[in-house]
Amino acid sequence: MSRPFPLIDFHSHILPAADHGSSGLTESLKQLEIVRNFGVDTIVATPHFYPNSIALEDFLGLVASSAERLTEHRESSPRICLGAEILYCNGLHRMEGLDALCIRGTNVLLLELPMDEWSDELFYTVERLTKSFTVVLAHIDRYILCEEDGIHSLLSAGAFAQINGYALHSFSKRRKLKPILESDRVVALGSDLHGADRKTYEQFLTAEKKLGDTFETIMRRSAALLENATAL
Ligand SMILES: [Fe+2]
Repeated sequence: MSRPFPLIDFHSHILPAADHGSSGLTESLKQLEIVRNFGVDTIVATPHFYPNSIALEDFLGLVASSAERLTEHRESSPRICLGAEILYCNGLHRMEGLDALCIRGTNVLLLELPMDEWSDELFYTVERLTKSFTVVLAHIDRYILCEEDGIHSLLSAGAFAQINGYALHSFSKRRKLKPILESDRVVALGSDLHGADRKTYEQFLTAEKKLGDTFETIMRRSAALLENATAL
């Protein structure tokens, strides 16, 4: 199905053995085949970065070698941009070299928030991050039922939001997300693909039916964020 706008998956774990999303090259190539068959134009590879578990330079080395291996063997489509999904930790805004985790060629950081209760320090840290980066909060659907006020507060403070497509199957989540979807803060949708299951990927794209015209609006916002992104 051809669309008058680019189809962008902003959140995925498709780099071979860079995290638990793909066990190796064979699985990554299967993932990309699925993505290509669904007509996705651009996918952002966002391997998990856990700041308390791995040094930044080790992570960057791992990602670079994984990306290189994928590049050697993959087909030309889809376009792959390279970023990271950075798990929040206190003081993250002071981490040296954080800009190396942006989607390459942009100042966009994909930030994963914790599932436990959000502290005042978290709000302070995210606000500080928004002064230097375009902060996109990963899968806000995951927190919308328990931290609804917190999400609204972070978006008001300057952060943007990414939603996982499959979450839109949930009526209660859709209802809570509605005011945010009607604002200009949702800039990305993602599959958060781990593994190579076609059905999981299909769920990501049912977001198009659930969102109607808003789907295109969000895709165009993603395209704007990735305008200067470098591809693998
Ligand atoms: Fe993820």
